[in-house]
Formats: sequence, structure tokens, C-alpha cells
Amino acid sequence: MRNRITERCGWLAIACLLAASALAQRRPVNPVSAPAWLNKQLSPDERADRVMAQMTLDEKIGLVHGTGLPGIAEPVDAEEAAAQLHSNGGAGLVPGIPRLGIPDLNMADSAVGVARGAFRGRYSTLMPSNLALGASWDPTLAHEYGALIGRELRDQGYNMSLAGGVNLAREPRNGRNFEYLGEDPILAGKMVGQYIRGIQDQKVIGDIKHYALNDQETGRHVANVNLDKRAMRETDLLAFEIGLRDSGAGAVMCSYNRINGDYGCENDYTLNQVLKKAWGFQGWVISDWGATHTTVKAALAGLDQEQPGRVYFGAALKKAIESGEVPMARLDDMVHRILRTEFAVGIVDNPSVTKVVDVFAGMEAARKVAEQGSVLLKNAKGALPLDPATVQSIAVIGSHADVGVLSGGGSAQVDPPGGNVVPQSKREAGNGGGELDALLGGPVWFPSSPLKSIRALAPEAKAEYNSGDNPAEAAALARRSQVAIVFVNQPSSEGRDLSLSLPGRQDRLVQAVAAANPRTIVVLETGAAVTMPWIDQVSAAVEVWFPGISGGEAIANILFGKVNPSGKLPLTFARSEADLPHPQVAGAQSSMSPISIGIGDIQIPQPPPFNIHYTEGLKVGYKWFDAEDKQPLFAFGHGLSYTTFEYSQLRATGKEVVFTVKNTGRRAGAEIAQVYAALPAAANEPPRRLVAWEKVTLGSGEARTVTLKLDPLHLSVFNVAADGWQLVPGDYRIFVGGSSRNTPLIAAIKVP
Ligand code: GLC
Repeated sequence: MRNRITERCGWLAIACLLAASALAQRRPVNPVSAPAWLNKQLSPDERADRVMAQMTLDEKIGLVHGTGLPGIAEPVDAEEAAAQLHSNGGAGLVPGIPRLGIPDLNMADSAVGVARGAFRGRYSTLMPSNLALGASWDPTLAHEYGALIGRELRDQGYNMSLAGGVNLAREPRNGRNFEYLGEDPILAGKMVGQYIRGIQDQKVIGDIKHYALNDQETGRHVANVNLDKRAMRETDLLAFEIGLRDSGAGAVMCSYNRINGDYGCENDYTLNQVLKKAWGFQGWVISDWGATHTTVKAALAGLDQEQPGRVYFGAALKKAIESGEVPMARLDDMVHRILRTEFAVGIVDNPSVTKVVDVFAGMEAARKVAEQGSVLLKNAKGALPLDPATVQSIAVIGSHADVGVLSGGGSAQVDPPGGNVVPQSKREAGNGGGELDALLGGPVWFPSSPLKSIRALAPEAKAEYNSGDNPAEAAALARRSQVAIVFVNQPSSEGRDLSLSLPGRQDRLVQAVAAANPRTIVVLETGAAVTMPWIDQVSAAVEVWFPGISGGEAIANILFGKVNPSGKLPLTFARSEADLPHPQVAGAQSSMSPISIGIGDIQIPQPPPFNIHYTEGLKVGYKWFDAEDKQPLFAFGHGLSYTTFEYSQLRATGKEVVFTVKNTGRRAGAEIAQVYAALPAAANEPPRRLVAWEKVTLGSGEARTVTLKLDPLHLSVFNVAADGWQLVPGDYRIFVGGSSRNTPLIAAIKVP
């Protein structure tokens, strides 16, 4: 109701304005007709042009910068303070132009749920991490995930999302891998594309981030990433190219780091030449928060909006326009990109109508993603699933499994209903010296108890919890139990990178429990890949990532076989850091000193500027292990099931691959069948790359013939000299199977 009245007043004001201006020009005006740009028959570009014709220079400048970061940084002046009064409480607000019917742009972080709910006392669904979604390999599920996020954003009064992270897991210790979709550009691109499309289908502007090569957190504000153009286009940028193509994302968030010398938000090659020219991107480039470093250089290099404040794109930009250093046409292009996106996605025609978030729909959706994204890594001697009818005693050990599950930290942090079920100890909050720990605190645990769900599924069994703080005590409980389940965790957050080893003494805990009970099962709540020195001593291991608000239930459903796990690893699990392209995280050993990132008076610890040389080039993740002939702990694409599958009858051409999958086990299950290609030697590529996949659900004994079309882009290489994609003629090999390292079907094809 309120919105309709506002809209009417808006039109009335507009009509009066137009009437007045028409009187002045003695043009007849139809007093009741709405201004042209509200006419939905016109294209978004036409509508943007029409409204821009009415805008003043100050109004245009007002659209290309933010108004601070309420709740985190003090407003820098009265203007910011006044603007923040009508912020919706998210990470960013760009005031609209009421007299022209242009709404405020209220944006919120929402990678795994609408963040910062506590700031305004709102509940948001915590979905499983984006990496868990990636492990489902299911683009349809990704769309559903995005749709839920989009609905909850609108319910809470937002009309723009700052989710869509798709930086490749080039660095498996990146503290933000939980916010991304793994190491393969085609899997990550297609999954993030559907995720962002899901958000935008709710008429909420989506963005894709962090463009580009922000593949680690250490020194992200100062590091200079060096990577050759071909490798860039075929790896990190390919994920963005596919994600943008499939989603039509309205915004691209440029990254903090330098790329081959120029900052991500003032990099003419990545912004103007690739994003806007080669890919034809029509939306706008929004800076990461504090990632803008200049006015003229950034504006000319393709930045369209500074966030969160106006250090460079406020009065300084107006001055540059007036002096001619930045052409008026460039400012008009910035404003046009923003407005045409607002019309195209529908936030002008469909104002947010706030309502209570659908809590139960969210819990159901979160459970489904957690079940589809969990990966059964090992299951020796049928240790799993547990049989509730026969299991008598279960030891549940570690990671606060009695009360909750772990969530990811940083700007993606969703706030838990009822607060953190594990009150923060200062020690935990400060662990690892992350740049944001002081600002945002340490690990946050959500009230979804695995122990409670285990007891619910096995009411006859005695399930006893032990914190795991004392390995000997935990081992004693394990010794007197039929089954021991050890929960291990790896807190992850923006602003800090990780070690591949589990933090604390968790490896020792698992080894002590496994020594006491041969039937030891490990459940991993990790942000990304970890090493497992105890893997040979345990009978089973399940990766559940950060499993979301229904994590406890999903974990129990998998342990007791109510759900047959089908997830596959979206990134390689290495045996040790020594096997990685870079044994050390670049810059990790440097001393940190506070620097300002231009967000009010915030100072964050950073090492001195340093170079990151991604010398592995094209060989990201499994491509490195294949090319260097290294054995991973668990391969990209690996994931077991409680049933078994057989592959047969492969027929392949350069355009399509046909094969049969059969469920040879005793229970129904889903198999993510994967297709890899080895390009001709002349292509000078890593041994194989993922080119297609299909999730096939089969009953016991059921077989299905799968036909997959091959996208030529997936078989191409990037020719820098020709500045384009190229299909190299010659002999290719096609591999099909259930993991990048388990492809029983092989075929040879010729590409002319
Ligand atoms: C952060 C993050 C970015 C986030 C933004 C707003 O520093 O890098 O992902 O969207 O600032 O919170």
C-alpha cells in the first residue's frame, strides 16, 4: 500500500514538473501520462536515455558512488550521514532520484544468505556454502539456490545482491573458497551463471565477483598478480565469461588486487578490452569496497561506480568532468549502464515489497543443497550407511557437534538465529591474524545440531557427545562405542588464508579415536580442501563443507542412508602443500602493517606490496596434478555413492558424446557422469579438461544412455595474437567416467 501511494506521489510530482516545463515551452502535456521512461514498451536503453535527458550533472554524479558503510564505518561527513539515514542496512546504498521515479539502490552481500541480518534484526536462511553447491554439479539446483537468495533479498527490502563470487580455487588455501565454485572454469562458470540468473529472476540485480584473479586473501589490497593473457582467458576469466553469458548479471565487481601491474578497478585490459569490448557487457562495473584508487585513470579504464564512498567518484569526478579530463560521454556511459540495468532487471517497475522471510522454505532448500553437495570421500567395508536398527552405541566427537554447524566468515557472514551457539573466545576470534577478524570476529556456529539429528534417526542407540578437547578422553568414549563419528572443522573467512592442515590438534584427535575404534567415520566441515594424514586409519569420510541452517539434519540423513550421497569434488584435495604449484601462500610470511582502504577511518593489516606469479598458468587444480603426474589425496570430480555405477558403449564426435551409465548396486542413486577431453599436442594444453557432465539418477539395475552436446568453447584455446577463441584441428581423446581420475571409457575423435 505504502509503495503505491509513494509511486502515485512520485508520478504526480513528475507530472507537475513536466507540466511546468511544458508551460515554459508552451508544449501541450497530457497531465496524467507518466514520463516516457516509465513506459515498459520502450527498451531498457531507450528508457535510460529518456530519464538521463532530465538529469542534472549532480544527479549523474550521485549515481556513480556509494554513501558509506553504515554499522561498520562512521559517515565521513554530514552528506553521508544524511544519506545513511535511509539505508536498508546492507553493504551499500546509492540514493535514487525520487523526482524522476528512480529508486534507491539498496545492495547486500548474499553469497550464502542475506548477510548482516542482525544489523536490522532480520532472519536470513543460511544456505550451505557456494562450494557445497558447486559439489552438486547441478545448474538447476544453483538456479533454485539463487532464487531463494533473491526472494529473501526482496523480502528484506533490497534490490541488488553482492553475491556471485566465482574466483577459481587456483589457491586451495584461499580463505574465501567457500564463497566460490571450485577450480574448473567451466563447472564454476555454469554453476555461478545459474545462481546469479536465479537471483535476477526475482527482479534483484545480481553481480559477479571479484573480477579478477583475487584468488587469495593474503595481501589482497596490495598484491600484484602476474598471469599471461592466454592463461587468464582460459582459466579465471573463462569462469566470468561463462557466468556472465549464462546469467546476464547486471554488475561486475572489480577486485582489490593488481593484475599485471594495474589495479583491478582501473585495468583497461580486463575492464574495457575484455569485459566491455570482447564480451559486450552492458551492465556496470562496481568497485569492491575500497578498491578504487584514482578518479581519471579508473574512469577511463572502465570503472562505473565507486563503493562504498565517494573519495574518487564524487566531487573529484565532477571536477574531472568539468575540466574535460574525463569526457562527459564517459560519465553518461556510467550512468546509462546503471540505469539500463535497473530497467532491464526490473527494479524500477517492481519496487521491493518487504515481508517476512519464508523460514521453513529456506530450511528445506538448505537441507536439499547440503544433501546434494556432500561428498562421500571414503567408505571402506561398507562402514556407511549406519543401520539404525542394529547400531547400539555411537560416539559423537568434536566441532561442537552437540549444538551446531560451522558457517563462513567475512562479508558473506549470515547472522545466526539466537546468536552464535558457540560464544566467541578471544583466542578463536584472533586466530590466523586475518585482516577482518578484529572487525568481524571469529567463527560463527549455527543452531543445527548433528547430535540431535543422529539421536532422532537412531532412537534406540546410545549416542554420546565428547568435545574432543582431550583426545584421550575422546578415544576412551570411542573405545566403548560401536561406532565413532569425529567432526572436524576448518573455520574460513574473507581476509585470511588457510593452511591445508586442519587447525588445532584435530589430526591428533582423529588419529587417537581411530586407534581406539576401527569403525571411525570422519565428517568434515571445511571451507575447502584439507589434508588427511589419518585417512588410511579411518573407515569412512564425508565432506559436508559449511552445511547451512539444516546441516545437522542433512548430515544425519547421509550417515543413516536416508539420502544416498551424490556430490563430487569441485576442487582437488592434495596430499600435502608440497604438491601445490606454490607450497607457500604468496606474502603469507610478510609482516603486516595497517593501511587505509578508503572506507572511513578503517585501517586493515596488510603486508608490503608483493608480486604473485601464477607460473602454473593454465594448469589450475587437477590440470596441475595431471601435468606434473602427482597423486592427489582425492581427485577433482571424485565422490562415492552407497550404490555402484558402470559405464559402457561410448560413441563420440567433435559435437556430441553418447554413453551408457548403469546402476549396478542394490539401491537408487545419482551419478555425476563427467566428460573430459585431451586436446592435440599442438594445442599445448594440460593433459585433460572437463568439457561436459550430466547428473543421472538411476534405480537399482537401471541403465540410461546419455547424450551430451559439446560446446565448441569448451574445446577451444585462446589465441592471444588473434585475440579470439580457436578450435585446434587434430586428434582429440574423449574420456568418460565418475571422476577426473576414473574414466573407464575412452574414444578418439578428429576435429577438422
Ligand atoms: C568486501 C568483499 C566483497 C563484498 C564487499 C561489500 O570487502 O571483498 O566481496 O561484497 O566488500 O561487503
